[in-house]
Amino acid sequence: MASGVFSAGAARLAGKTVLVTGASGGIGAATAIAFARAGASLILTARRQTQLEEVKQAALQANKEGATGKGGRVECLTLDMQDRNAIKGLLDRIPDDLKNVDVLVNNAGLVYGKEHVGEIDEDEIQVMFQTNVLGLISLTQLFVKEFKQRNSGHIINLGSIAGLEPYAGGSIYCATKHAVNAFSGSLLRELVGYNVRVSEIAPGMVETSFSVTRFRGDKAAADKVYEGLKPLVAEDIAEEILWVASRPEHVNVADVLVFPSAQASATINHRGPQGPPSSK
Ligand SMILES: NC(=O)c1ccc[n+]([C@@H]2O[C@H](COP(=O)([O-])OP(=O)(O)OC[C@H]3O[C@@H](n4cnc5c(N)ncnc54)[C@H](OP(=O)(O)O)[C@@H]3O)[C@@H](O)[C@H]2O)c1
Repeated sequence: MASGVFSAGAARLAGKTVLVTGASGGIGAATAIAFARAGASLILTARRQTQLEEVKQAALQANKEGATGKGGRVECLTLDMQDRNAIKGLLDRIPDDLKNVDVLVNNAGLVYGKEHVGEIDEDEIQVMFQTNVLGLISLTQLFVKEFKQRNSGHIINLGSIAGLEPYAGGSIYCATKHAVNAFSGSLLRELVGYNVRVSEIAPGMVETSFSVTRFRGDKAAADKVYEGLKPLVAEDIAEEILWVASRPEHVNVADVLVFPSAQASATINHRGPQGPPSSK
């Protein structure tokens, strides 16, 4: 879980408070550690408490190594993004010294399966929409009010190439991420009169537990997704998130689409050596 992520301007994040959802693994965990290294304090949420505590320890260590002398507070709060009441009650559970959240990273999300329409499990449809869309919207509603009152804040939503380009076998996930894209776009427009930023990060292939979840625990099937190419890793996306969050206050990076160099769209990728034919 080591993360050496740092970026130019990261000093602007020292002393800020950042809430990361889905911080128990993958992109969320790497992002939390990167912010901690930059001197931010953190509120980490997800369903798995033990994993959150592990990320907390790594974040505390990164904060020490970052040696900014700022931040270093990390609070883990279990939260299921499907539970609307739990989201509603979240503000009451945040300790007073962390209540003024500066950056909200809406990262929690998941996909199940590659079934085509007609064959998709109805319960899994509910889980994907509740987590990726409805939970994200409810949590944003909670913080946007306060951001508007304070006239500061930054909402960073994890979209996906699946939110820009539909593909067969991804109907529900694509629909959820298109919803995130539309929601982010409307929010950006609504907040133009405020000093509140809205950014969407849309990754291509990132090797995390994402595909293991998609294939319901089948690691061999998940590994096949990345066979023959070098995918992004969680730290690559954390680096983008940190970069977006650490621009000067008047700069809003609204959209970031990030692929591995061997990917060009949701369905176009190159497996095997890259380079001119003679080098292959
Ligand atoms: N990996 C990719 O290729 C890729 C590409 C584009 C976009 N993304 C997006 O990036 C985000 C992070 O994914 P990842 O790649 O880091 O996947 P990951 O390693 O599987 O992590 C997913 C995170 O979401 C959390 N989560 C899932 N369901 C939740 C729920 N109901 N309530 C609260 N937290 C929940 C998980 O925590 P718990 O299980 O502990 O709750 C975990 O921390 C997602 O929004 C995903 O759609 C990923």
